[in-house]
Amino acid sequence: MPDVYCFEGVILNRFEEQCVIVTGAGSGFGEATAKRFASEKANVVVSDVEAASAAKVCDEIQKAGGKAISVTCDVSVEADMEDLLDKAIGEFGAVDVMVNNAGYSHMSRLLWKISVEEFDAVFAVNVKGVFLGCKHVIPRMIERKKGVIVNIASVGAIAPRAGVTPYNGTKGAVLTMTKGLAMETARHNIRVNAVNPVAAETGFMKGAMGVDQLEDEDRERLISTIPLGRMAEPFDVAAAVTFLSSEDARFITGTSLNVDGGRSV
Ligand SMILES: NC(=O)c1ccc[n+]([C@@H]2O[C@H](COP(=O)([O-])OP(=O)(O)OC[C@H]3O[C@@H](n4cnc5c(N)ncnc54)[C@H](O)[C@@H]3O)[C@@H](O)[C@H]2O)c1
Repeated sequence: MPDVYCFEGVILNRFEEQCVIVTGAGSGFGEATAKRFASEKANVVVSDVEAASAAKVCDEIQKAGGKAISVTCDVSVEADMEDLLDKAIGEFGAVDVMVNNAGYSHMSRLLWKISVEEFDAVFAVNVKGVFLGCKHVIPRMIERKKGVIVNIASVGAIAPRAGVTPYNGTKGAVLTMTKGLAMETARHNIRVNAVNPVAAETGFMKGAMGVDQLEDEDRERLISTIPLGRMAEPFDVAAAVTFLSSEDARFITGTSLNVDGGRSV
């Protein structure tokens, strides 16, 4: 194993000896975040509802010299979440950082064209999933009198546009829970923050737009609303999550970081 595990040229070791759980880590932001933590010497629990994609990311981290295990977990199922925590602690002893990243969007449509089933399903993953992640990790963090939680919300929570209104509602709920939870846990030395990414061409687009890749004109339309002139990339979100999880952010809690190229200004 190399002394320094270097991923995309980043050489840091802010998370040495720390255990980090990332949900939805089989793809997109979660994958980049898991790999970034591994590059900084964390023991990473790569978790996803898709067992094969979690195993693939875990394997890539191990082959690059990092430490990781993969755990299959549907974040909307309480027994799965309990199992995830048990396996993480069984393997690495404790959980230092929990990244509640798993999420998706229903197909982009006007609210009154969205079925009750679609509404319930997106709230089950994006809101109940974050609730369950926090509910089950916090007692373990209280025992150790420390911990960090980062929830992945969305710029749509603070600057919604037409098209994915229930989805944006889930992310608004995540931001409000983040702030309330920060108030409930501060006395236990636990910090809770969120990240608000702008649109990125991850697996997310399949759910929201029904396509693997955007049409050029759709991409251009999205980019025209982003002052820095591009969409988000997984690296951008991973960098924000690791910053909020690190000692550099030790006095930051109850806030959210917009990773949006200025889109929400
Ligand atoms: N890509 C974007 O445009 C965008 C913008 C803002 C916020 N987000 C948020 O970022 C987060 C990550 O999304 P992404 O863009 O990387 O998409 P992605 O589809 O590439 O990755 C999401 C991962 O979550 C997993 N997942 C889905 N449902 C799950 C469940 N019930 N339990 C566990 N895992 C589950 C998927 O299998 C997938 O691997 C999501 O919360 C999403 O809402 C995405």
